[in-house]
Amino acid sequence: MSDTVNDAGLDQIFREARSHSFWRDEPVSETLVQAVYELTKWGPTSANCSPARFIFVQSDDAKARLKPHLIPTNVDKVLSAPACVIIAYDLEFYEKIPELFPHNPGARNWFAGNEELIQTTAFRNSSLQGAYFIIAARALGLDCGPMSGFDNAGVDKEFFADTSWRSNFICSIGYGEQEQLFPRSPRLSFGEACQVL
Ligand SMILES: Cc1cc2nc3c(=O)[nH]c(=O)nc-3n(C[C@H](O)[C@H](O)[C@H](O)COP(=O)(O)O)c2cc1C
Repeated sequence: MSDTVNDAGLDQIFREARSHSFWRDEPVSETLVQAVYELTKWGPTSANCSPARFIFVQSDDAKARLKPHLIPTNVDKVLSAPACVIIAYDLEFYEKIPELFPHNPGARNWFAGNEELIQTTAFRNSSLQGAYFIIAARALGLDCGPMSGFDNAGVDKEFFADTSWRSNFICSIGYGEQEQLFPRSPRLSFGEACQVL
């Protein structure tokens, strides 16, 4: 493989990166948003199926459509951020497999008609891609505020009616107010979370 990412990079992406709820009044450029996706897309998914879809809710109008579906404690965390991304998945992701997995285009047929496998694969891989998105955003200097406190069915009806897209989680992005953070919560130790067999 390659060299280890340096300590400053590891701090930025992991050790000092926090989940933010308060945001500076500073926009996120279109160029940066595109750069985040251009990194995100390289994260691995099963059969390279890439089911995640990213909807950048940025305008006042789009935020107003999202607002009624948020739990009350998440409303300001979304409205005060320059953008909130709906990380969604396409239940028809397998139609792109011939293009995305060219050495085995027939992998499309593993999924077509198998609703349980479609749902599991779409949710698992879009969750992974959501995590890649967070890491990519942090690597490019953005802060993130991931949230699952919203009504998925309501968001799906508002944004994805009559489509095969469904919401997974949402993530505010921008530049967080560092001084508003509560102290970092602990994490499980290696001994608690891991086994080496
Ligand atoms: C999938 C997911 C859903 C979350 N949902 C919410 C939420 O609805 N509201 C909220 O305020 N924080 C939410 N969080 C933030 C977590 O509470 C936060 O990431 C965790 O406490 C770790 O905080 P830290 O990153 O600052 O260490 C969510 C985080 C993730 C990854």
